[in-house]
Amino acid sequence: MEDLRLLLKKLVEANGPSGHEENVRKVVEEQLTNYVDEMKVDNLGNLICTKKGAKDSPKAMILAHTDEIGMLVRYIEKEGFIRFSYLGGFFDQIVLGQRVLIHTEKGDIKGVIGAVPPHLMPEKERKKSITREKMFIDIGAQSREQAEEWGVKIGSPITWLGHFDQLGNNMVIGKAFDDRAGCAIMIQTLKEVKAECTIIGVASVMEEVGLRGAQTSSYTVDADFAIALDITATGDHPGVEERQMPVKIGKGPAITVADGRRESLGGGLISHPKVLKLLTETAEKNNIPYQLHVFEGGTTDATAAATSRGGIPSATINVPTRYVHSPVEVLDLQDLSNAVKLLKKSLESAHRFF
Ligand code: CO
Ligand code: ZN
Repeated sequence: MEDLRLLLKKLVEANGPSGHEENVRKVVEEQLTNYVDEMKVDNLGNLICTKKGAKDSPKAMILAHTDEIGMLVRYIEKEGFIRFSYLGGFFDQIVLGQRVLIHTEKGDIKGVIGAVPPHLMPEKERKKSITREKMFIDIGAQSREQAEEWGVKIGSPITWLGHFDQLGNNMVIGKAFDDRAGCAIMIQTLKEVKAECTIIGVASVMEEVGLRGAQTSSYTVDADFAIALDITATGDHPGVEERQMPVKIGKGPAITVADGRRESLGGGLISHPKVLKLLTETAEKNNIPYQLHVFEGGTTDATAAATSRGGIPSATINVPTRYVHSPVEVLDLQDLSNAVKLLKKSLESAHRFF
């Protein structure tokens, strides 16, 4: 588990908002270079790694997205303060007061997200939440010219400045566990697996802005089935009822039965019964703990794979994660390790299913 902790830490410390995933891709490349037969990067930036199996064996596609939610510099005020756009799904209340890094050709610039303090607000404003339009990034610059001199430009990518750290009971904290947790599972599995089927691991780009890398790579890879690795929210803390979200941290990876928009499960995945069977039977046989779940409120790369070409049978393995899309996501390393076991064992018996 120490291996997985260090791998996750390394992946998290590489910053990669959507469209700027190169640093994360490099870590994946470095990790896998001695463990796969072929590696290529497509036009969009997806890293496609092939580990060849037996002749005429089925092709399994594994997807883990390299991007994290981020921001872009949208406007620099005369006084040097920076206005920003969201790149992915943010919750305004988590953004205010955070530290960020602006990535420029001249290096990373530290900043903090500011707004009018409550002391200076009219009474009734204090009860409202502050929205993005009222926030700005303070990098300590005194003018637009100075910010530009430091390398900040319209479109410069921004990420959380979030330190990887440890809580009790194998739990770790950090930003971008969505989806470096998936990347860690993919890397570790490709290192350990000895399967008959051919495995194509895709470190995909631009998931957080609409599954874009998964869409193009699913077409290229043309697999017999696909498994996406991602995180899912949990309902094991104050404020969520179990019936609303029964997934808990530490109880094993969550296998998605279906996901999508809250009101309809539209725009999401209905997992293919054959892939579901492969995953659940493998878990049962090998005594790997798992949780089945229907997720209302989002989807993963598997959705793009499922509707690619003539339809690719797909499902998702998720790591239960608290406080998703914040700089303090929390997960349990034991779940990560069980997800590796589940994926590895599933791939090793996949030739009997496809
Ligand atoms: Co996400
Ligand atoms: Zn994700």
